Amino acid sequence: MASVDFGNCFILTLLCLLSTFFLFLFFFKKPKKNAFNLPPSPPSLPIIGHVHHLFSSSIHKSFKKISSKYGPFLHLRIFNVPIVLVSSASVAYEIFKDHDMSVSSHGAIGLDECLVFGSYGFINAPYGDYWKFMKKLITTTMLGPQALERSRDVRAVEMERFYRDLLDKAMKKQSVEIGGEALRLVNSILGKMSMGRSFQEEKVSEFSVKFADLTKKLFLQQILRKPLEKLGISPFKKEIMKVSHGFEELLERIIVDYEENVDEHQGTEIMDTLLAAYLDENAECKITRMHIKALLAELFFGAGDTSSNTIQWAMAEIINNPKILERLREDIDSVVGRTRLVQETDLPKLPYLQAVIKESLRLHPPGSLIPRECLKGCKIGGFYIPKGTSLVINGYAVMRDADSWTDPDEFKPERFLGQEEKREKVLNFLPFGAGRRGCLGSNLAYLAVGTSIGVMVQCFDWDIEGEKVNMNEASGRIFLALDHPLKCTPLPRILNLLPTSL
Ligand code: HEM
Repeated sequence: MASVDFGNCFILTLLCLLSTFFLFLFFFKKPKKNAFNLPPSPPSLPIIGHVHHLFSSSIHKSFKKISSKYGPFLHLRIFNVPIVLVSSASVAYEIFKDHDMSVSSHGAIGLDECLVFGSYGFINAPYGDYWKFMKKLITTTMLGPQALERSRDVRAVEMERFYRDLLDKAMKKQSVEIGGEALRLVNSILGKMSMGRSFQEEKVSEFSVKFADLTKKLFLQQILRKPLEKLGISPFKKEIMKVSHGFEELLERIIVDYEENVDEHQGTEIMDTLLAAYLDENAECKITRMHIKALLAELFFGAGDTSSNTIQWAMAEIINNPKILERLREDIDSVVGRTRLVQETDLPKLPYLQAVIKESLRLHPPGSLIPRECLKGCKIGGFYIPKGTSLVINGYAVMRDADSWTDPDEFKPERFLGQEEKREKVLNFLPFGAGRRGCLGSNLAYLAVGTSIGVMVQCFDWDIEGEKVNMNEASGRIFLALDHPLKCTPLPRILNLLPTSL
């Protein structure tokens, strides 16, 4: 049995309450037995079904355990609401190849008024005009390949600052928390790209950390919404909304500051376009100030925790594997040399660095569970999934699926250099999801993660306490993170590469 984290008495009480309620319902209305030819269901508890798995300390691992025992395509019962669980690369392939349009929604909104994953946001916006309008706007002004090329210098300045901060700490022989440094870097890049300067990065970082800590509750709020609504309770609402309101106030101040000081700073394409659409009565799609704040909040939330944890996991793997570190350095020294910093334009010439990052994303995907909803009934794997059914694709299980990866639990970056045979009809690499609703920031993430790891490997040796970095995963999170944040001391490997001050 997976370990169950019932530390929170409130949740236990809630379960008892719900059980009593559904026990009552149970006597009056028996759930229909697999009326739609859903995939098989593993043994469940009376009334609550598989709810207890949602309170496991590690949902993705608990789900992976179930799928290893009962099969890669299952349905779970949350009281009497079915959820389809996908854990294999071949089912993922069928879904995204044949039914992408039918699953192009992230599903029910947990809390309408919440800034992140709420009804004003982009991530949970239904597939339709608003989502299409925003996707086009975000791609053309910020995250698409051409927009990223236009903002290259902005990121280079932030990367130099990142290097200078590390060098400063190295000279003072201070230790650094890689995750914290990485989060500051990603947020200042995002601040510059979205709002023209690094507005109150510390405060924005604080909120994105708070939201990241709430992801499990946000996920539960979404999955349990239907049964909870019947009871008229919302156990996590107060806590989530407190953070949401605080973030909203901060973003309002940031937007006002942007509007009032347009002349002082360089505007950004995305902010100028959003504000123009907000002020334009005849805009193609009417957006409110709340839409702008929700989008900014989701961009910071979607980028910060995911990218900084990726940097942290990858550095931990590199430090634990000296041969990998050596090979990365040889490549960087021969492509970049020792007289300038690694730049984004070097990345295509550093395939091993890219392979290390992909392998780290495969083993430690920050977005381990991908929620979707069937917008219309579809036949998948010979079963019929009715309209409105929630789907959870367990990216963690798919990327460790032994049927599609050799030595799935081992860190072997070489597999991404083409040595591992390509398998047909599988979709086995899903760190950024897939299809229409796949991650919009994957290109930016590869650039920021690639250059920051490149700089850390190129310029410093890393001293850790003890022999190896502890790779245990933190429990109680949906976004995978190290249980003990990676703390190490940088030792300058080459002389200062930036002689002039910023
Ligand atoms: C290593 C870093 C990142 C990881 C692992 C990651 C992962 C993901 C995943 C798994 C999804 C859901 C995809 C699906 O449903 O198929 C997603 C969606 C999204 N991500 Fe990322 N992400 C990362 C970085 C970023 C960055 C840097 C940004 C933007 C600045 C971003 C913006 C978004 C947005 C806007 C969506 C929602 C797309 C939609 O609903 O249409 N992400 N991300």
